Amino acid sequence: MKVAALSGLFAERAVDERDIHRVREGMATEVTRIADPDTAWSMRVTRVIPAAAAKDGVNSFPVLAEAAPPEWWRPGMSGVARSQAGHRSLAWIVTHGVVDYRRLAPPRLAPCGRRRKLPPRKGETDMAVQPMHTGPRYRGGVMTGGDYRRIGVRKVTPVIGAEISGLDLAGPLDEATQAELERALAENLVVFFRDQKITGEQQLAFGRRFGALQAHPLAPHEAGLDELMVVKADEGSARVNGEEWHTDMSAESQPPMGSILYMKVCPPVGGDTLFASMYAAWETLSDRMKAHLEGLTALHDGEFVYRGTYGHLGIKDREAYAQSNHPVARTHPVTGRRALYVNRRFTTRINGLPKEESDALLAYLFQHLENPLFQCRFAWQEGSIAFWDNRCTQHRAMWDYWPHQRYATRVTIFGETPA
Ligand code: SIN
Repeated sequence: MKVAALSGLFAERAVDERDIHRVREGMATEVTRIADPDTAWSMRVTRVIPAAAAKDGVNSFPVLAEAAPPEWWRPGMSGVARSQAGHRSLAWIVTHGVVDYRRLAPPRLAPCGRRRKLPPRKGETDMAVQPMHTGPRYRGGVMTGGDYRRIGVRKVTPVIGAEISGLDLAGPLDEATQAELERALAENLVVFFRDQKITGEQQLAFGRRFGALQAHPLAPHEAGLDELMVVKADEGSARVNGEEWHTDMSAESQPPMGSILYMKVCPPVGGDTLFASMYAAWETLSDRMKAHLEGLTALHDGEFVYRGTYGHLGIKDREAYAQSNHPVARTHPVTGRRALYVNRRFTTRINGLPKEESDALLAYLFQHLENPLFQCRFAWQEGSIAFWDNRCTQHRAMWDYWPHQRYATRVTIFGETPA
């Protein structure tokens, strides 16, 4: 269908409603609804515009009442036009100045109410077979509040991860530098440092700059330093830490805000850690799925994770381990962004749903959050440090270096009750 024909459908009709949302650094999504009372059709148009334009109202697109001039339509713009009775819809996308549309009809049901989907009628397009091209899966990646004066910040991916330069973590840290570091963490979710040489006490002191330290409920620690967890694997290891996607210690009622891992001994190759943005995981869920998950809580179970885990190292189990209910989506207290907060390691049940439904939904969410689009991968060297924010990330350690040794120490910083 040519532009003129589609815009003709809505010609001289007023814009019904316009929302600008998801405004953040550099980007906004503008959603406009147009209703035509005569034909009982409505149309929802989505497009991405610069945030500045959204704020100023500049660049707001011409009202379709003027029969949208062809130059208004941009490749990749997409939407759905729907009849108010709801039984006919028109999905459309602009490609090279042409609006490509496919007619949709409600799924045809087999007779006698059996909900078996019949093949499309003649001339009808089955959208499940021919997906629309509607642009990137995730548009919310790059976030930066401007230049840094005290530290170097080089993004590893637009979505997550940055390497920090110009800092010696063994030395003192002035307040302005710390503030920049905190901003770099908020913007990048995990930050990496190279070529650091710090003692256990210095690692603890660095961690304390960001909050009180939280000892691991069970894992081994360096002698005399309860809050300095040992993360070690070699030829004889029965298991390693963090082999599944997880966020640290989420069964605690106040799970950690962050963890700082310092690599002391690296395998010759391998032993990388993958990090994933739980903002991206949340933001890429459909609005319907988000609406379903909003307000739900899930059980994070320490019993399930810890009991017997360190028996091979001669570490005796505690009498009981923490179990906590946390929201399925939480709001980050610094950035205000929503993040998915269920993980494969600790989350066993979404509360208030039948078990089968909870299992299926968790299985879907665990699979969804592992999309490589949300990830970065850090290749360690001796002296590398990673500092990640547990409130908006998950991570997974690769045990691909057997029979070699990998030895690191971790400090974990208290967070708040997820909300
Ligand atoms: C952890 O989950 O804290 C360990 C991560 C790693 O060893 O890379």
